[in-house]
Amino acid sequence: MTVQNSSEGVNSGVHANSVFVIFVNGEKIEHPDIQPEWTLIYFIREKLNLKGSKVACGEGGCGSCTVLLSKYDTASSKYSHKAINACITPLCSLYGCHILTVEGISDGNKSCHSIQDSIARNNGTQCGFCSPGMVMSMYALSAEKINEEKLEIKTIKDALQGNLCRCTGYRPILDAFKDYQPNCSNSADIEDTWSLKNIQCENPRTINNNQASTLQAIENLLKGFENGGIKIGDSKYLKFKGKNSIWFLPYNLDEALQILNENSTARLIGGSTQLFQNLESTCVENPIVLVDKIRELRAVERCEFEQRSFLKLGAALTISEMADALQIEIEQLHESQTRGFRSIVQLLNLYGSTQVRNSATIGGSIMTTNPASDIQTFYQVLDCWAHQINIGSNSLMTKKMKLPFKAGSLITHLEIPHSKDNEYIWMDKVTKRRKFDAAILNAAAKLTTDDSKTFVQNLVLCFGGIAVIRFDVDFVFERNQVSLNEAFLAMVTTSVVAELNTKLRKTQYSEAYISALTKNLLLKFYRNVTSEIQGKPLPHDDENIFKSSQLFRLDKESKPNDLIGQPIAHASAYKHATGEAQYCDDVPKIDNELFLAFVCSDRAHAEVISVDPTAALAVTGVVGYVSHQDVSKNSFGMVIDDEEIFASSKVTSHGQIIGGIVAEDRIIAQKAAKLVKVEYRNIVPLMLTIEDAIQNSSYYPEQGMKLKRLIDHADTIDKCDNVLEGKMYVGNQAHFYMEPQGCIVIPKEDNEMDVISSTQNPMEVQKKIGEALNIPSNRIIVRVKRIGGGFGGKESRCLLVALPAAVAAHKFKRPVRCILDRQLDMRISGKRHTFLTDYKIGFTNSGRLLGLKMTVYCNGGATLDISEAAIERVLVNLDNAYNIPNYDLDGIVCKTHVASNTVMRGTGGPQAALLIEGILDRIAGHLNLDPVQVRRLNMYVEGDVTPYGQTLTNCTVQRCWDECVKLSEYYSRRDQVDQFNRNNKLVKRGLSMNPCHFGIAYTAVFLNQGAALVHIYRDGSVLISHGGVEIGQGLHTKLLQVATRELGIEASKIYISETSTDKVPNATPTSASCGSDLFGMAVMYACQELMQRLAPFRKQETDSWESIVSAAYFDRVSLSATGFYKTPKVGWNSQKVGSPFNYYSTGAACTEVELDCLTGEHKILRTDIVMDVGQSLNPAIDIGQIEGAYAHGIGLFTSEELVFSEQGELLTVGPNSYKIPTVGSIPLELNVSILPGSSNPHAIYSSKAIGEPPLLLATSVFYAIKDCIRTQRRSTGKSADFRLDSPATPEKILMALEQSN
Ligand SMILES: Cc1cc2nc3c(=O)[nH]c(=O)nc-3n(C[C@H](O)[C@H](O)[C@H](O)COP(=O)(O)OP(=O)(O)OC[C@H]3O[C@@H](n4cnc5c(N)ncnc54)[C@H](O)[C@@H]3O)c2cc1C
Ligand code: FES
Ligand code: FES
Repeated sequence: MTVQNSSEGVNSGVHANSVFVIFVNGEKIEHPDIQPEWTLIYFIREKLNLKGSKVACGEGGCGSCTVLLSKYDTASSKYSHKAINACITPLCSLYGCHILTVEGISDGNKSCHSIQDSIARNNGTQCGFCSPGMVMSMYALSAEKINEEKLEIKTIKDALQGNLCRCTGYRPILDAFKDYQPNCSNSADIEDTWSLKNIQCENPRTINNNQASTLQAIENLLKGFENGGIKIGDSKYLKFKGKNSIWFLPYNLDEALQILNENSTARLIGGSTQLFQNLESTCVENPIVLVDKIRELRAVERCEFEQRSFLKLGAALTISEMADALQIEIEQLHESQTRGFRSIVQLLNLYGSTQVRNSATIGGSIMTTNPASDIQTFYQVLDCWAHQINIGSNSLMTKKMKLPFKAGSLITHLEIPHSKDNEYIWMDKVTKRRKFDAAILNAAAKLTTDDSKTFVQNLVLCFGGIAVIRFDVDFVFERNQVSLNEAFLAMVTTSVVAELNTKLRKTQYSEAYISALTKNLLLKFYRNVTSEIQGKPLPHDDENIFKSSQLFRLDKESKPNDLIGQPIAHASAYKHATGEAQYCDDVPKIDNELFLAFVCSDRAHAEVISVDPTAALAVTGVVGYVSHQDVSKNSFGMVIDDEEIFASSKVTSHGQIIGGIVAEDRIIAQKAAKLVKVEYRNIVPLMLTIEDAIQNSSYYPEQGMKLKRLIDHADTIDKCDNVLEGKMYVGNQAHFYMEPQGCIVIPKEDNEMDVISSTQNPMEVQKKIGEALNIPSNRIIVRVKRIGGGFGGKESRCLLVALPAAVAAHKFKRPVRCILDRQLDMRISGKRHTFLTDYKIGFTNSGRLLGLKMTVYCNGGATLDISEAAIERVLVNLDNAYNIPNYDLDGIVCKTHVASNTVMRGTGGPQAALLIEGILDRIAGHLNLDPVQVRRLNMYVEGDVTPYGQTLTNCTVQRCWDECVKLSEYYSRRDQVDQFNRNNKLVKRGLSMNPCHFGIAYTAVFLNQGAALVHIYRDGSVLISHGGVEIGQGLHTKLLQVATRELGIEASKIYISETSTDKVPNATPTSASCGSDLFGMAVMYACQELMQRLAPFRKQETDSWESIVSAAYFDRVSLSATGFYKTPKVGWNSQKVGSPFNYYSTGAACTEVELDCLTGEHKILRTDIVMDVGQSLNPAIDIGQIEGAYAHGIGLFTSEELVFSEQGELLTVGPNSYKIPTVGSIPLELNVSILPGSSNPHAIYSSKAIGEPPLLLATSVFYAIKDCIRTQRRSTGKSADFRLDSPATPEKILMALEQSN
């Protein structure tokens, strides 16, 4: 990479427009024509064509766009190297800085950095979409800590907190980064079983660890730009003028004041972590002044002033820099002086992510209007002072005042006082997800005692959060001798709760919950402070723990080159890690390409009266509007055609696509689409929930399902020794694949179309485009290289993007790209179904199940889509691993006005497992038995018959169970948990062990087919095409392994390029865990066919593959073969009786959690999983699937909660409001073991499907939480029988603890 060393400044004119200078990957880029409001990610992806950094959210919430920012700080005279999110960073703020992207740390496809090597080798990538961001976060951490000998696991976890991964479950990523640090203190915890991890399918790369020299080179480059390239003393700020905005970049206070004085409407920007949301409108309306480089605003000073002692921090310091400065004080000063500082540092650990803390500034945090600001809460109680300069037209004056500030001033400094010997400070924050989440409620307190520390003189409390309007209360007790005791606490609690009730915001959180939480937080404060006064501070969480083991047996007798059974890395692992792997939106812009942006409904149920695109069409760069009028057949569907590509006269869900604006560029299209005017007339009723649908009898007729077996249920159940009845609700889940939906359509001659789609279902995309445009399928080629996760969300919902894009491309005869942003993706695409059930269960006194009667409702949404598959899966999975002799189930799909719900990993299986596991849990509680005993008693054995009449063979669920009891040391741990609970009043531990028994095959028999096409070229290289899509599940890798066994050649000679409908037609979607079963067999057959043809040409054992191939070619033998497989003997009759499944994947998991009974927050201490994967094709990939699915389940059953407004608008539309697990959500100890000695005659090489079944094992997290609640309820004299719905959020948990009998 060319490095231009620029030591001269480039800007000097006060009024001249400055030339923008930035350094990227060692290269100096001068750009005279930037639009200052461009984000960094837009610039590097669209202008520099560096596509390694990904955009999965665009709101700073996922870390996939992480890059390393290097800059020089004039105040501290130091260079810093920090991770930031490129998606929320305005380009302009990076003047004179260096950005290192993932491309900058490796060299093309020849070498890679050892961090990239480590994540690739340790199976830390699956779909790979998060991998560049992960790598850059780790790279930034190691750059910051370059002189440290070893990194603590806590430090690594903190650095990765802002990086989401939906596939891996994080364990291999953590292991990879621990591995990268050979001296890491915890490395001994890793049981390293990857004995063959060096086998790679990709070309070997040289590994470098040249970080020190890279950083040095960057620092050399930045020389000359210390002061923006301007000589210190020159009063010459920078000015960047774009089409719509003007930005100023002052380097000192005088300049800033001069600009502000001259531009009275100017708006200030610090780190832009808040302002980015309204950046576009803000900078169109106002000139922008960037304050983060103002030298005076970056100083840190310890001060004594008028008997006050404080730390003075410049307002342009970032939150990370503030934490560092406070930490130095903590280390240098007496404990009593830094009590507040310690609380702040602890709190800041819960503040956003490393990337956010590296950008957000003190000034911004003071001025933020975010009600959940954690920082303002402590500013308030600590009596911090801020210096502000009021910006007036003529008079500028400096004054100090108490927080918070109103707009219209420049904050220059913050003063945080040192604490005094009689001051005690406490802060906490309650969130749905423990780390990287906004506060539901945050609280800070400062208690001042008399000198004897017996009486309270003063107490200041402040509360804030999503749930309340910030408020503070001040109690002063100077004259009264008020003791710090429980009576005092009760008095404070009464006042605060009364005050709080007047401050509630209208949110999803109930008043009862917030009151209970406030009461409990005050108790926490009291316990903490009294302990501290007594000199026995309560211990903090030990987060410096992470242990894992992965156990499997290797086949030692495999033939040369045969990779079956070997734990080889994902075939694209290095491409993922280096950012070379290409996803739909990474395809370079095609000549003449247009961008399609949707016009979506902002009503959930309404008539469309009129649509007027005139204003949008007038925008320069807009090419046209597409709507239902441009389509031959506007209706589509997976089972029935009940959905419209573009809504014509009526909308039936919020976000439904009405039309689209097609423009020369993404930004133009998106802006113009907002100008399209749509008039609506609301229609009643508006039904959003299952309850709404029941009330209005709104169902999909004919699409429900009944499953009934054996004797008359009513009679049987009512005659049982015990009968329990109940209701349970299981909430939905967003797929949150990291790569949003996207499609590129390239029209060609004769109505031909090339379609690049992020889909799990290329056949359906091809077929539906053909139907929509009346074009035969033979003109349409749908291609998929890989997708950044799907989880079922791209099986049918990909059509929402592909069909409009095809219509637009057809209409304008130009290539059209349509990529959704995360927020729109979440609004319009369906989710996992919610379920509501009514049940009645009969059982014996020993706990044996006799009969289950249940009605199950699911919310199908506005169209049917594949909802019947979900209800069907629930009904066939409600037995999970248990023999239930009498079974009477009724499944009903509700029709509502939410975006059509769809299949998702496990479809209805996880919900079904949660329901039946809940019933068994209740039975155990009712009989006062250990749930493990009740589960084992009812568990399936060989030869049992399921409710739908399938006889079980090779039934291994009891073996998994018994192995898991051993692996987890269940019984001794149960004793330990009981012991812990006896000794702890407010924190409880719970343990739960749960099985999974998941049928494999499509119940729609025709889908159980797979095909492949294998070519051998003259040089001996082999190209495999098959019908499956690489979603991240490692399908290509496994099929490549199949080919190594069949062809007997090295993996490096075999290649799988992409999935394409012109290579393999009519392919079944890649879903339902069936990919390797179907396409593996197809590849095997094709290879076997070729080997038969080549056999005559192998004259002797030593003949090389190439010579055999060559001989066959010259003898005119076809070196191309297809393979086709259909699963034999699966199916059931119209009464749903038969053998719908090919076999079952089974497993068991034991999970221990710890619950804070005051806040409802939990952490998972340990999980042990035993899974039967038959003879694993690739244990590394299988374990990756087990861990990833389990983590997916953690989210489903604990933190992922979708919230809709009363009008049906989804409010949780991105990672900042919707909380999938982070690296901090996974168990502190995770042991996974593959059941030894298993086999499976029904799938390729005796393997088993693995993508979905382990998700069901996360029921163990939910029931371990329930175990904690039960224990706590019992200890407070409450009934052990209570209802807990999923997800078990802190709110539901706290309410279950509070629930009366
Ligand atoms: C992903 C994510 C996670 C987050 N998590 C948390 C969290 O856990 N807890 C929490 O409390 N917050 C959180 N935040 C909020 C965010 O960190 C705050 O909004 C931040 O403090 C704002 O600082 P900034 O420098 O980025 O402000 P900006 O966005 O630059 O500006 C915010 C406001 O302050 C004004 N302003 C900036 N600097 C000055 C100045 N020197 N003088 C006067 N006015 C100024 C701006 O004009 C604007 O009105 C999160 C944000 C994101 C994006
Ligand atoms: S895309 Fe930038 S943080 Fe998600
Ligand atoms: S590998 Fe992390 S999101 Fe797919």
